[in-house]
Parts: sequence; structure tokens; C-alpha cells
Amino acid sequence: MKRKFILFGATGSIGDSTLDILRQHPDDFELTGFTYHNNEAKARLIQKEFSVKHAHSTASDDAAEKTRRLLDEPHDFILQAIVGAAGVTTTLEAARRGDTILLANKESLVIAGDVVMSAVKSGKAKLLPVDSEHSSLFRLLQGAADHQVAKVFLTASGGPLLHVHGDNFYNAPKSLVLKHPTWVMGQKITVDSAGLTNKALEIIEAHHLFNLPYENIQAVIHPQSFVHAAVEFSDGTVTQHVSHPDMRYPIAYAMYYPQPPKVSVPGRSLSGYPALEFFPVDEQKFRSYALGRRAGNMGKYFPAVYNAANEAAVAAFLADEIRFGEIADLIGRALEQKYAAWDYRSIEGLMAYDKAARDFVKEQALSI
Ligand SMILES: NC(=O)c1ccc[n+]([C@@H]2O[C@H](COP(=O)([O-])OP(=O)(O)OC[C@H]3O[C@@H](n4cnc5c(N)ncnc54)[C@H](OP(=O)(O)O)[C@@H]3O)[C@@H](O)[C@H]2O)c1
Repeated sequence: MKRKFILFGATGSIGDSTLDILRQHPDDFELTGFTYHNNEAKARLIQKEFSVKHAHSTASDDAAEKTRRLLDEPHDFILQAIVGAAGVTTTLEAARRGDTILLANKESLVIAGDVVMSAVKSGKAKLLPVDSEHSSLFRLLQGAADHQVAKVFLTASGGPLLHVHGDNFYNAPKSLVLKHPTWVMGQKITVDSAGLTNKALEIIEAHHLFNLPYENIQAVIHPQSFVHAAVEFSDGTVTQHVSHPDMRYPIAYAMYYPQPPKVSVPGRSLSGYPALEFFPVDEQKFRSYALGRRAGNMGKYFPAVYNAANEAAVAAFLADEIRFGEIADLIGRALEQKYAAWDYRSIEGLMAYDKAARDFVKEQALSI
């Protein structure tokens, strides 16, 4: 029987990969409905190709109500591929309803990890990771007892600026920042990858998804992007999960779970993987990574401030208002700001921190 699903953020890069799996396996899945934000033309093409009844733009005034109605439509799972903080409310609504959520939108757990995980628990929802590193960890950790896991590693390619240093790093042009060496992704996550902000977001995501203490989660530079995650077990052995960098692997894994995924990308033999290199992260250079780790450790509202400051700073960089290195400067300043004492245990409180940090960075960016 076909498994019905709803795709949030269908017009993006994760949306493309998901729709390609659907295109390859039309007997296994049916797209009940989807959302898009601004790309009306692409939305119409998707709606036509997959004969989808329900599609709406999240940019409309009544988007929240339409999203609730969309979630009322019959489905077996949702795939959450909206970019940024805008995805949190949908993730939370689906969690409260007890949905099976295939989560690409890492910002949901960064901003509101405790709130979302508690809604998942009380709503009896299921959360399946789509991020490649977390999907690999999910596979590697199956069957392992907590006490057997000494450390987990998330790999980072190092992005297009791995070998760019000093002033050249600080002033890196947009054309270079957006040229990711191994992954094809949306613009925001590509900028995040160049500064390794993305890895800090993923560490916070892993902390919540797998209930791991921060000191047991480590990022490692692996320029080839073949190994996505590794687990060091208490007997000193390390298991790695390897595939070519293609998001269709983790997406198909989540869509078919708990059944084994059908092939959506041709595999490669072991000899198709050349030398694998691993290096420590240079925290002096990748300052926004170091700030993200610190925000995660501080907990409370700090990850929400970190995420919002980053989103606003990345938007300013993409609009040519600030230089690349100023993204980390602005995140650092936003984390040091004094904010009103909102309730960071509630989504309303966290969104108030999000807005305050976002407004602060926008204002600062204009005065640079
Ligand atoms: N791309 C990857 O390989 C990858 C890997 C792992 C995790 N992720 C995560 O997956 C999520 C999506 O990434 P992506 O690369 O697919 O992003 P993307 O290509 O930029 O696509 C984002 C999607 O979200 C929609 N959107 C934009 N602003 C929105 C808003 N304010 N409210 C609701 N929807 C909005 C876009 O709609 P329009 O295009 O119609 O405006 C589009 O459908 C991110 O959280 C990212 O970190 C991505």
C-alpha cells in the first residue's frame, strides 16, 4: 500500500531530493499535500506532476490555519524541509498531534529542543532524522546501550573556505562562499557550512535527538564527505557510516523506515571511496562554530539567540550588507546582549528571544 505524506518546503533542495525519490518509487508513496513559500511557479509544476490536491504558500496571512488543515488530511508521515526558524511551529504542531516527523529542519531542535522533544513524548510522535549526519548516527546507534557509547563524531567537509585563511576568510566573496565542494544545498545552509555554523547547529540537534551530553559529541573535518558520522564505543572501536554525499540516501532511509529503503541512488563499491582524511576543527578560525558550541552548552534561550542571530546575519550577508566574517562578529554580539526575562521553557518565550536577537542583528548590520 502507498504511504501518504505531506512535504513542508517542497520547493527547496531537500524538497527536490524527496520528490526525486517519489518519482522513482510512485507505487510506494503518495504526496497528499505540500507547502512552499515564494516559489509559486515551481509549486504549480510540482502540483501538476504529482497530482497533488492540497498545496499552499506559507507566505499568506492565513498560512497557519491552512497548515493545520493540511495536517488534518490523511497521511502516514510528514517531511519537514522548511528552512530556518519558520519551521518550528509546524514541527511542534505535528509533534503534538503524534505524527511521524521526518526532520530536515534542524532549526526546530536548535531553537526549541526541550519543548519539541517533550511534545514528541507527550504526543507519542516519532522523530526520524533526515540530516545526513544524524541519519548515519541513527543507524550506528541502533542496538547500542547508552553505556556502550563513548563518543559520537559528526563530520564536516570544511566547506569552500577550508583552505582560505585570515583576511581572505573574513572577506570571502559570496560567489566563493556559495560554492560548496561536496554538497548541493539551499543558500542558507551553504553559507552556514562555509563558517561551520551548520556543524554547531547539528551538534545541538544531535544533543536533543539522541539525548547525548555535549562533551560526548565532537565535530571533525573530513573534506571528502564520504563518512557522515562515526561512533566510538566503550571498547575503543569506532564504527563509521559511509556513502557518497547525496541527500537521497538519508531521505529514502527515513521514508521507508522501518523497512529497508529501496535504491534511489546507485551505490559504489568500497574501492570507489578514495583516501579518507580527518582533521580537528580550528575553533580560532571557525568562530561561529565555537560560539554555537558555547550557546548549546549554556542552554536555556542561548541556542535560540544563536540561531536567530545567525539567520539574520546570513540574510544580511546574502543581501551584500555585511562581510562574511561579520556573521560571526554579529552572532557573538547577540549572545552577549541582555534580553528581557521571557520564559525560555515555552515556545512563546523562545520566539520572543528569537525576535529580539533577530532585530538586534538587523539593526547592527545596517550600521556596519
Ligand atoms: N539541503 C540539504 O542538503 C540539507 C541537508 C540537511 C539538512 N537540511 C536542512 O533542511 C532544511 C531545508 O534546507 P534546504 O537546503 O532544502 O533549503 P532551501 O533550498 O532554501 O528550501 C527551503 C524551503 O523552505 C521554504 N521556505 C523559505 N522560507 C520560508 C518561510 N519563512 N516559511 C516557510 N517556508 C519557507 C522554501 O520555499 P520557497 O522556495 O517557495 O520560497 C523552500 O521550499 C534546512 O533546515 C536545512 O538546514 C538541508
